[in-house]
Formats: sequence, C-alpha cells, structure tokens
Amino acid sequence: MSRAHITIDREFTIGTVPTRLFGSFVEHMGRCVYTGIYEPGHPTATPEGYRQDVLELTKELGATVVRYPGGNFVSGYNWEDGVGPVDQRPRRLDGAWHTLETNAFGLHEFVGWSRLAGVEVMEAINLGTRGVDAARAIVEYANHPGGTYLSDLRKTNGDAEPFDIKLWCLGNEMDGPWQIGHKTADEYGRLAQEAAKAMRFVDPTIELVACGSSGSGMPTFGAWEQTVLSHAYDEVDYVSLHAYYQETTGDPGSFLASAVDMDYFIESVVSMTDAVRARGKHKKHVNLSFDEWNVWYNDGRDSDDQPGAITASGAWREHPRVIEDEYNVTDAVVVGTLLNSLLRHGDRVTIANQAQLVNVIGPIRSEENGPAWRQSIFWPFARMAELARGQILRTVVHSDKYESRQYGDTDLADVSATWDEETGRTTFFLANRGLDDSCEVEVSLRGFAAARIIRAEVLRVPEDADRFASNNLGQQDRVGLRPLDGATVDSDALRVTLPALSWAVVQLEEVRGG
Ligand code: AHR
Repeated sequence: MSRAHITIDREFTIGTVPTRLFGSFVEHMGRCVYTGIYEPGHPTATPEGYRQDVLELTKELGATVVRYPGGNFVSGYNWEDGVGPVDQRPRRLDGAWHTLETNAFGLHEFVGWSRLAGVEVMEAINLGTRGVDAARAIVEYANHPGGTYLSDLRKTNGDAEPFDIKLWCLGNEMDGPWQIGHKTADEYGRLAQEAAKAMRFVDPTIELVACGSSGSGMPTFGAWEQTVLSHAYDEVDYVSLHAYYQETTGDPGSFLASAVDMDYFIESVVSMTDAVRARGKHKKHVNLSFDEWNVWYNDGRDSDDQPGAITASGAWREHPRVIEDEYNVTDAVVVGTLLNSLLRHGDRVTIANQAQLVNVIGPIRSEENGPAWRQSIFWPFARMAELARGQILRTVVHSDKYESRQYGDTDLADVSATWDEETGRTTFFLANRGLDDSCEVEVSLRGFAAARIIRAEVLRVPEDADRFASNNLGQQDRVGLRPLDGATVDSDALRVTLPALSWAVVQLEEVRGG
C-alpha cells in the first residue's frame, strides 16, 4: 500500500474551468469521417447521413469544441472541393495519408454535424499549399452574412445563415518536415501574421491559433515559438501544442508518467510565450491551445495500415483502416493524468482537443454497417467533461514516489480538482500510477463546509484480466467505470483508497440548509 496526502483550500484557485478544454478532433483520415461520424447507408443514419449512434456517444463524451478537417490532411486541402453539389465534387489524392478523398463530406456537412452534436467548430485552414487569399476567402464564405460572391455561394449551397465560426487554426504542424508545405519559423510566422490580418479584415470577431511545435522533442522547439510569435504576437490569440504518448516495451513506468512531460511542455510554452510578450511590450496574453493530444501507438502494431503507408499494391484507397488503436486500462489511466495536467494549467491552456474523436486513435470506435462503442479512454474524458465545473483548485500533493526511467522520481498519486460555488460541489479526479499496490489518499479540505459524497467511481483492471484489458467489438463493456467503495468524508478530510493502476472520480456536495 502506498500513501498520498493532498491539501486543497477553497481560497486557492487557479481560474475558471475553460469550457473548450474538452475538445476533440475530426480529421479526414482513415475512418474518422467516413464510417466514423458519416455513413449514409448505416442503419442509424440521419437523413443527412450522420451516424446517430456516434452522435449519441459524442454527446455522452461531452466534447465541447471539435477541430476540423485536419491535421496533416489540411495542408494539402482545398476547402472549395468540399462544397457545392456532392456529385460534382472532385475526387482527389490526399498525399498526407495516401488516401483517395471523395469530398462527399465537407464544410456544410461538418457544420451540420456540429449543430446536432452541440459542439463548437474549430476550423483549420491550409497554410501548407495555400496562403492569404484562400484564408480570407473561407472566412468570407463561412461568416459573412450575404451580398458578396462567396457568402451568396454559401447560400446557394444550402446555408442561408452564416456559420459564424469563431475559432480558426492557422495551418497545422508547420514546423514538421513531414508537413505538406513545411516552412521555417520565419516563413511561417510572416505567413500566419498576414493570413490572420486578412481573415480579421473579413471578420474582426474571430479567434486565431498559431502553430507552435508538434512536440517538445522537435529540434526547433522553443526557437520556433519565439520566432513565430515575434512576427505574429499581435495578430493571434493562441499558440498550439501537440503531444502523443505511448508505452514502450519494458517501461510502463515512464508511460504512466507522461503527464510529467505534458506539465513540462505546457510550462515551457507559457514561459516562451510570456518572454515574447515582455520583449515586445505587448499588453495581452497569448494563451495555449493543446489542440492534439492523446495516447498513440504509432509503433507498427497494425503495420499494413500505418499512416501514410502504401499497401503492397500501392493502391490509393478510400477511408482505409488507419491507426485504430485499441486502448487498455493503462492507456485510460494515462489519459486521466493527461486530463489532470490540462486542467491544472487551465489558466493558460484554454483550448484542448483530444485527437481524434472516432476510430483514428479515438475514444469512440465504430464498425461500418455495425455498432459503435466506448473505448477505455472514453471514461476519464467523459467524466471530467461532465463534472469539472467552476473554479480549478490548486492541489498540494505529497505522494509516495516511484522511479521512472525517463522522468526520475514520480508521484504515485496524481490529482486535479474543481470547486463549483453555485452547486456546492467539489470534484476530484485521481489516478494511482502504482502497478501493484493500492494507494491510500487523504485530502485535507481547508475552508469547505460539511459535505457528503455524491459520486465515487473507479476505472481499474477487471478481476479476471490484466492491465491490457480493453473493449472491442466482441466485448464492448469490459473496461468502464464501477462504484468505488470505501471512500469517506468528514469535516476535515476525504479518504479514498485507489486500487492499483486506477483512475477515479469522487464528488462531494456541500450539506446546505437545515
Ligand atoms: O492526429 C493524427 C496526426 O497527428 C495529425 O494529422 C497530425 O497533425 C499529427 O501529426
């Protein structure tokens, strides 16, 4: 048994929980769009061709904002290909993922889907093969009320009302040599600045995200952010971060400590962004958009369908099966800790998008003409999106530790917490990284009124299985949330025992009135 002591104080808050922290991502990649969110022939299909079963799971997941249409895909994409009569849309080669794109699904279809799903659209533009002119054109098409060629074309194409898209990404991973139209930081910084200016001339109310680094391991990390922002600081509102984690053979300890890396990445980008602010004597803050994050086993587990892989025959296929990772209990615990890291930094990370929503490294899986189900990683996301409300609380943690190969001394217990004055609810999101031992957690509650436990759930290794247990077509509910027994609360403290390798949520409600 290991131990952890955590202290929270009602006065020690970090900021309000940002609604956009629970974002997701839909890319034209593999089966995320086609047979993921969109499958006209599916038994649950809506009249527009959206899969109702996936829509329901998206709502249950609690995604608030969804980035679209890429990812690497967007850097070779012409948005005009995806509007207008479907039978006249061009079929194109997508070089990013070596896929045949039919363009049956485009901007109108995505906006229609987002309305049914109740999510905000975060639209990425192509700054790989295109530039300022296409950037301002799509804003006019999407957001201008009418009376111009492009806004009237939107009406002709079926949407009389503007889409009113507020959030725009200025390209994708432009620091990566794999990106179509990859640029140096100076080239990209200037292009982002000019595209942003031209987009704002069309609609001054939009918010813009500049590409930061595609990972903290990039050779240009740091210099990239500083150079890009030295050009575009005044014109942008956010800088992006991307990170993917995976377990390497024989080192689960480092994988379980992935949030240590995420903390470091976030704190480094905050420092660099604020350094540019100080140097340029800018007043405003640029915040962080962690618009791609997840666990991703890009290690050849499904070798024939690796991203960009060309099949033996070299064929270009429509929506092939690509990186459909099957997530296990360990992955869910890691995702829970990554969410903790994002929430703990919610004063500066005000947008985050788990990549991706369905099939392609997604919390939701669906089969063509078949069912849709929740992966293990669905649960920590869904519960945090549902229950993290009000103020983010500072958590002071004294935990027993273990030695991880990559990050050294690592806390066995990981936590984030929120306090909602309106409802009187305090919510804890807890993880035990210990593979073998349960962890006894005591949380000192300073300045809180008497409360009772209204929810206690845990995701852990099922009794008849090991930490690699997962959900799949044959066993769709093997890994999920179960009641967490034994939690107690009194006027001073909450006491919880977390099983070995587990993620848990505990919610308290103030006892009010007589
Ligand atoms: O999410 C999958 C891919 O990962 C995205 O297309 C790209 O931006 C990143 O490298």
